Amino acid sequence: MKSFYITTAIDYVNGSPHLGHAYEKVLTDTIARFRRQMGDRVHFLTGVDEHGQKVQASAKKKGIAPQQFCDEVSAEFRALLPKLTITNDDFIRTTEERHQTVVRAVLQQLFDKGEIYQAEYKGFYSTRQEQFLQEKDRLPDGTWPELFGEVTEIVESNYFFKLKQYQEWLVEFLTTNETFIFPAYRQKQVLEFLKEPLNDLCISRPRERLEWGIPLPFDAGYVTYVWFDALLNYYSAVADRPEIWAEAHHVIGKDILVPPHAVYWPIMLKAAGISLPKGIIAHGWWMTRGAKMSKSTGNALNPLDLVTEFGADAFRYFLIREMNVGQDSDFTREQFLVRYNSELANNLGNLVNRTLNMTTRFAGGVVPAAEVEEDLEKSLRDLWTKTRDEFLPLCEGYQFHTALERAMVFLTETNAYIEKRAPWKLGKSTEAKDAALLRTSLATMAEALRLAVAIIQHVTPTTTEKINAVLGYTPGAVWRDELNWGGKLTGAKVAGALVLFPRPAPPEKPAAPAKLA
Ligand code: MSP
Repeated sequence: MKSFYITTAIDYVNGSPHLGHAYEKVLTDTIARFRRQMGDRVHFLTGVDEHGQKVQASAKKKGIAPQQFCDEVSAEFRALLPKLTITNDDFIRTTEERHQTVVRAVLQQLFDKGEIYQAEYKGFYSTRQEQFLQEKDRLPDGTWPELFGEVTEIVESNYFFKLKQYQEWLVEFLTTNETFIFPAYRQKQVLEFLKEPLNDLCISRPRERLEWGIPLPFDAGYVTYVWFDALLNYYSAVADRPEIWAEAHHVIGKDILVPPHAVYWPIMLKAAGISLPKGIIAHGWWMTRGAKMSKSTGNALNPLDLVTEFGADAFRYFLIREMNVGQDSDFTREQFLVRYNSELANNLGNLVNRTLNMTTRFAGGVVPAAEVEEDLEKSLRDLWTKTRDEFLPLCEGYQFHTALERAMVFLTETNAYIEKRAPWKLGKSTEAKDAALLRTSLATMAEALRLAVAIIQHVTPTTTEKINAVLGYTPGAVWRDELNWGGKLTGAKVAGALVLFPRPAPPEKPAAPAKLA
């Protein structure tokens, strides 16, 4: 069994989870479930990033201790996972001892090796926001936005990590490992970024300015600042299990690819003598009318509202079907409803209903064996072979949206097959040939349905389970063996009905006028 280790970014706990956070969990879960189906021994980690200025400030505003604040918000992030049917094996919090121990050990090791040094840090500082600003924070006219209050240039002593000296090594590494970052065009962007000289990385903040962090093991007057703490979570969670670490893959948003994950992280690991991850998958953003959904802009959707209204599977399906991993997508309720109605309720839902109804009506609820194969049956079967053969490489290459589109085409064609075969007409005939075709059509639609739900299982696990149950089917242990067309349902006793994707309640209609007596 091959190991496969997959992680999400760890979320800042200074606000509640939104749709962007939920998407990353769903995408990572889709990958995790797919790899498990392919037979890998998967380890799936997610968690929260609990240190830093913003958390300290949010806790202060609420008048509670930072740890209590983290406990509360982290619980909210954690509670979202089962609601989205996320199958993580572990959940890490950066305030946990197991994480802090590893961070301190790595920092100490790098300090001992001379990879970390102390120097003056110069920058523009906002006392109101208690943070250093960057050039990109300036307004186009060169001044600072009002929210920063008074901005002064200050100098303070800090610790720096020798990033610069690894620049050539990183360029060489990325040039020889062309598929390190997915999508490939992002790897090119990293190499572009590396054409400019790197600066060493400031990794500390004096304790009098920032209390809420991991103290540097070699100078208690400082805490670790942001990335050295956060990035190491991927390693600290499995530090004692090298066979898992050796197969690490990180799923992150494009905003934290360059420089944190594509530059700092490989260099930190290289300097510490720890092996590099196998890959980084950088997804795009969910947007609302062209702007990134985020807590700060106030345009973020609460994923739980959609899950409550439509169920976890419909939510997962939409996110994975709509977004091409790497690119941005606009989230609109209209588009959600279009896919919900046409793809889930009509396409899949109808096939389920027809299969159950017709098997009940024409075969006493027991799936018959196929007896003949005419052109109609053959072409559906050929389409299945093509769908399956394209589907596996698509999923292995994170093209889940196209894989789902292929599954939908197969469902559409199965429904079209039923229209053409018209079992309701065959049922009226007294010819033996028609009776054989009728049985064949029932066997064909049931088998096509079984196969279709097998290939969407990593996205819609609950739906797949429900459909298998009404088909009276228990899938075998080896998922890939399930993908062969082979009358696996012959003799199965199906249930009478299953309501899967109910229509959302229509807007209230005015009451019909009362009839006159
Ligand atoms: N704490 C850091 C990550 C540290 S990883 C070692 C952080 N946290 S975050 O809460 O701001 O973001 C967490 C993840 O959610 C990131 O991968 C980010 O890209 C993703 N998303 C946040 N908003 C998003 C959208 N609107 N759309 C899709 N994902 C986005 O960054």
